[in-house]
Amino acid sequence: MELNNLTFLITGGAGFIGSNFIHYLLRKYSQIKVINLDKLTYAGNLENLKSVKDDPRYRFVKGDIRDAKLVDKIMEKVDVVVHFAAETHVDRSIMEPAAFVTTNVVGTQVLLAAALRHKIKRFHHISTDEVFGSLPLNPKLRFNEKTPLRPNSPYSASKAGADLLVRAYFKTYGLPVTVTNTSNNYGPYQFPEKLIPLAITNLLEGKKVPVYGRGINVRDWLWVEDHCRGIELVLQKGKVGETYCLGGPEDMINNLEVVKRILRIMGKDEESIELVKDRPGHDLRYAIDSTKAEKELGYQPEVHLDEGLERTVEWYKENRDWWQKIKSGKYKSYYERQYGKK
Ligand code: NAD
Ligand code: DAU
Repeated sequence: MELNNLTFLITGGAGFIGSNFIHYLLRKYSQIKVINLDKLTYAGNLENLKSVKDDPRYRFVKGDIRDAKLVDKIMEKVDVVVHFAAETHVDRSIMEPAAFVTTNVVGTQVLLAAALRHKIKRFHHISTDEVFGSLPLNPKLRFNEKTPLRPNSPYSASKAGADLLVRAYFKTYGLPVTVTNTSNNYGPYQFPEKLIPLAITNLLEGKKVPVYGRGINVRDWLWVEDHCRGIELVLQKGKVGETYCLGGPEDMINNLEVVKRILRIMGKDEESIELVKDRPGHDLRYAIDSTKAEKELGYQPEVHLDEGLERTVEWYKENRDWWQKIKSGKYKSYYERQYGKK
């Protein structure tokens, strides 16, 4: 599919990956139109899109994906939906799961129904590797498109529910869908409740970095712009009805090692690590096998973790205003509830 001259509905475009994707599209496609539908929950931030707010190709609509009337109205002019909007933080889903079900499951169904009614050209659903559950610490084992769904947290269960609805709209109604299941993203504009920006901003504030349990859990880290390119490739070359798994370049680095690399970049010692209570039901390891996307789409993540961490540290150093506003607001009470201190 040629992406220029199309109108995109980006849901959740004021969040971390959605805003990176909007910047990516507007940089690459001169004739594109982008509508960003976002409720602006605690995780949505229009500051992420300050530089494009007056771009004639871009329009922001503040609204909820669960609002069927609004969604139906917006969908009238849309060619392609890229659906990022979700409640996304595992720890918050453990504290208060209800919004995860209504936004991630019901909200997705509202979008699918409107997309079907308006006969859009493509509905691309952004999902996660967390729907596959957890792997042992064996580098030979990875998730792929055939791995059964075995989610373990309210967040991942709600994302799995959404994935299955997307599949059902393809099988039952023929809605032209594609899905990507992606590993842990990091980079600019990530809300500082997630491990990497939390670590960097805590260190910039002279605080310790809380590491759950013994820090042995492993994630598959993906530079956010590599993810954006992967989505673009699926839209351009992906087959309707198919799922593609998109992972990062390395996948055996545990949380303690990630934090130690950040400490080295920032010139801090290991005294800044604090081992804290583990996350309930904490998945041990995620790792993605991207072979299908590599072979069929030419997908290849380019940015290795060390380089990506350097760039991310630099971004948070240069954008103190952005994260200091977040950390001094409502986020403070979440932090105290989660970690038990200021
Ligand atoms: P985020 O939390 O930074 O952003 C989510 C955005 O969705 C926010 O702007 C928020 O305001 C908006 N939103 C939430 N509920 C809404 C609703 N009811 N209606 C409209 N907007 C709503 O999330 P992110 O990290 O950018 O993740 C984006 C998508 O990618 C999610 O679907 C997530 O499951 C998926 N994903 C994330 C990662 C990751 O590492 N961050 C990895 C794989 C997949
Ligand atoms: O795998 C993709 C998923 O990655 C996305 O679907 C989710 O939306 C996204 O939030 C992320 O989930 P994780 O739970 O893996 O990310 P988080 O940054 O919260 O945690 C990464 C790892 O670090 C995990 O093993 C828990 C651990 N951790 C996290 C925090 C916040 C800590 O050790 N200390 C912390 O303070």
